[in-house]
Amino acid sequence: MNKSILLIGSLAATAGLAALLVPPPLPERWSGSEAALIASLSLSALPPAPADPGNAVADDGIAAELGHRLFFDPRLSSNGAVSCASCHRPELDFSDGLPIAVGVGVGQRHTPGLIGLSHSPWFYWDGRRDSQWAQALAPLETHFEQGAGRGAIVRLLAEDDEYRRLYSALFGDLPEHLPDPGQIPRQASPLGDEAAKAHWRQLDPGLRLAVNTAFANAGKALAAYQRKLRPGRARFDDYADAVGAAGPNAAARQGELLSRDEIAGLKLFIGEAQCVNCHNGPLFTNHDFHNTGILAPPGRMPSMGRFDGVREARENPFNCLGEFSDADAGQCAELRFAKDDKELAGAHKTPGLRNATRTAPYMHTGRMESLAEVLRHYNEAPVAMLGHNEAKPLGLSRRELRELEAFLRSLEAPPAIARQWLEPP
Ligand code: HEC
Ligand code: HEC
Repeated sequence: MNKSILLIGSLAATAGLAALLVPPPLPERWSGSEAALIASLSLSALPPAPADPGNAVADDGIAAELGHRLFFDPRLSSNGAVSCASCHRPELDFSDGLPIAVGVGVGQRHTPGLIGLSHSPWFYWDGRRDSQWAQALAPLETHFEQGAGRGAIVRLLAEDDEYRRLYSALFGDLPEHLPDPGQIPRQASPLGDEAAKAHWRQLDPGLRLAVNTAFANAGKALAAYQRKLRPGRARFDDYADAVGAAGPNAAARQGELLSRDEIAGLKLFIGEAQCVNCHNGPLFTNHDFHNTGILAPPGRMPSMGRFDGVREARENPFNCLGEFSDADAGQCAELRFAKDDKELAGAHKTPGLRNATRTAPYMHTGRMESLAEVLRHYNEAPVAMLGHNEAKPLGLSRRELRELEAFLRSLEAPPAIARQWLEPP
């Protein structure tokens, strides 16, 4: 073939490529409603974490100290090797980097990060707990997580000098409530295997109540500690504040605070790609449950999600309305009026997106390895295995997907957590 034709052909291809590479212009200015929406995403708009009326020590310093110790203590497990921090690792924003969690055994879902979670009214991907203190009790006993009986947890509180001191300072004299902790079998639990249940049934009802009360209090301390885990300001927040302050007509030092691609990604996020429908507010979550067509792992049944979760939250003895809660029934509106219909089959909690860059892999199944993979999923919006996918196919170009990803990266920031809470006590 003639060489010059080849050359001309490749020049033309290069020119075509160059045209593709010329970035489209910046969104010069935001409309008034866009500017208000962007400002509402800033961390400056985040109020303090809502009170937890079910937990009287939620904001108590000693409770946070006790919770901090419990969080990092592997003695709270059947094999003495697993603590909350084994799966919720501080250096990974309290996630674990694994697709599916591994504790005493192998779990069923992906470990979410814990930063900013105290703003959530529901816990777990399916929202099967209605408070952070009730949530904290579950992994302690779940056989594949920490697998300890509540008997063992309460004995540790009573027998370890430091725990007994902190506990008694908060909740009243522990030896008085449990004068003889040695009589509580460690395995005793209403949730364990047959032997554990038998030990539990053999306990005197008064002692069972004392064990449950001390166990619930351990959860309240763990929740108080987790309320210290707050997100830090990202580059995006300075931009959002500038846009909010400047109003609709200002360019808001756009290029200085965020790059062209990040701004274009933000435009897509709040516009055409409709991410903001579910990922909104300063934590980028509406705290609600949605079906986004996440496929079950091969050979596994798809998770029923919130459909089962809301039932479990209602039945849980440690819920807002239960006897171990410090709330009045009137303060439990979330639980009492929780939506419950078959549309919730396959719906999972919308995760926040701050520092999503640091908590891969993604989704309740942990099967998406990168943000690029997540974005491809939204672009295609596959048919759900259960219920229906609420997200619609986006049909974005490769460039637009890259811009969206650049925007998500602008949300990365070191969390605003005092160093002492990030390390074992
Ligand atoms: C074996 C690993 C593992 C251990 C140990 C563990 N977790 Fe988790 N954690 C997970 C997984 C996996 C989930 C999500 C499970 C689900 O939604 O079904 C989760 C969920 C949570 C949530 C809810 C997150 C959300 O987005 O709603 C909180 C809070 C939490 N864990 C705190 C704790 C505390 C406190 C402890 C210790 C008492 C603990 N975890 C122990 C793996 C673990
Ligand atoms: C209909 C509500 C909805 C819309 C619209 C939506 N999301 Fe999500 N998003 C969710 C839910 C729910 C999950 C968790 C799904 C699951 O695990 O089953 C999620 C998960 C994610 C995750 C994974 C986070 C993690 O920690 O695992 C990222 C990243 C994400 N979404 C980004 C986006 C982006 C970007 C858009 C716009 C293209 C978007 N989402 C649109 C509801 C939504």
